[in-house]
Amino acid sequence: MNLSSCTAVAGTNIALVKYWGKRDVALNLPATGSLSLTLKELGTRTTVRFGSHFGPDDRVRLNGQDPDDKTRSRIGAFLDLVRAHAGISARAEVVTENSVPTAAGLASSASGFAALALAASRAAGLILEPAQLSALARRGSGSAARSIFGGFVEMQPGVFSDGTDAVAAPVPEGDGWPVRLVVAVTSEGAKHMGSTEAMDRTARTSPFYAGWLESVPQDLQDARAAIAERDLHRLGTVAERSAMRMHASAMAAAPPILYWTPSTLAAMQTVRGLRDSGVAAYFTIDAGPHVKVLCEAADVPQVEAALSATPGVLRTVVASPGRGARILHETTS
Ligand code: PMV
Repeated sequence: MNLSSCTAVAGTNIALVKYWGKRDVALNLPATGSLSLTLKELGTRTTVRFGSHFGPDDRVRLNGQDPDDKTRSRIGAFLDLVRAHAGISARAEVVTENSVPTAAGLASSASGFAALALAASRAAGLILEPAQLSALARRGSGSAARSIFGGFVEMQPGVFSDGTDAVAAPVPEGDGWPVRLVVAVTSEGAKHMGSTEAMDRTARTSPFYAGWLESVPQDLQDARAAIAERDLHRLGTVAERSAMRMHASAMAAAPPILYWTPSTLAAMQTVRGLRDSGVAAYFTIDAGPHVKVLCEAADVPQVEAALSATPGVLRTVVASPGRGARILHETTS
């Protein structure tokens, strides 16, 4: 077995049909499918090196700093999966950089675990198929399974108890469609309830959770059709509906989970105002207060200007469709 060093990159992704709820917590198996867009500008670059001289613990640097204990143990547990798969026991050195601040809550775990799955598996001497990589990335974070692939991506919930069929795959009909996601950042570094805890509470206590689960297959079908027809109005309508239903199910949990702030609502109103004035713009919101706006590339200046003028919006980031996780370089020792 060759132990080498591998550097991989992955773009984050934003779900247009959301994943919210697990059918198996230990294996991170989603209760429903989801559909996302992988982004070029927001992502993670990670280098992994295994070595017997590293001592008893993995060494992790995240954006030039030591990560907090929770992040460190999450990465350590993920590396244990890779070690078990490869039949090695050596500790690893992991150096990872996000192109968006982790603390800004912009889905860094999706690109983070996709890049780590690729870099760590290769550095451990494994060559995995894309579907196997997707299943591995899913163990780190459900949404990371989608960042293995570029462009529009659909995640399957699967039916097997071992999770081998709970993987993502590209939706190639969307390739080359010049859509954009304009991210309205509404807070800097605020801590939110993590998605795993929030999903679990929603599933256990929300009277709307069953309705949410029931609604997802139709949203997926509409999103697939919208992509095949390149119908932005149809895709955006599904995306808003899916986000609203996901948040409604969480808001109805006990205790309630509310990720929105007044700035989130203001940005949602801005998007509705843009539509009233003829601009095809549609929002989606994840487990945080930021608002991500789907639009055509040609409408980005108008969308950015309107969001920037919205009270509480700190800055905007424009993101376009990006490629899947890939290796930048590797060396065999
Ligand atoms: O990948 P996780 O466990 O952080 O969950 C992601 C949940 C959402 O971002 C809110 C929705 C999604 O499908 O990405």
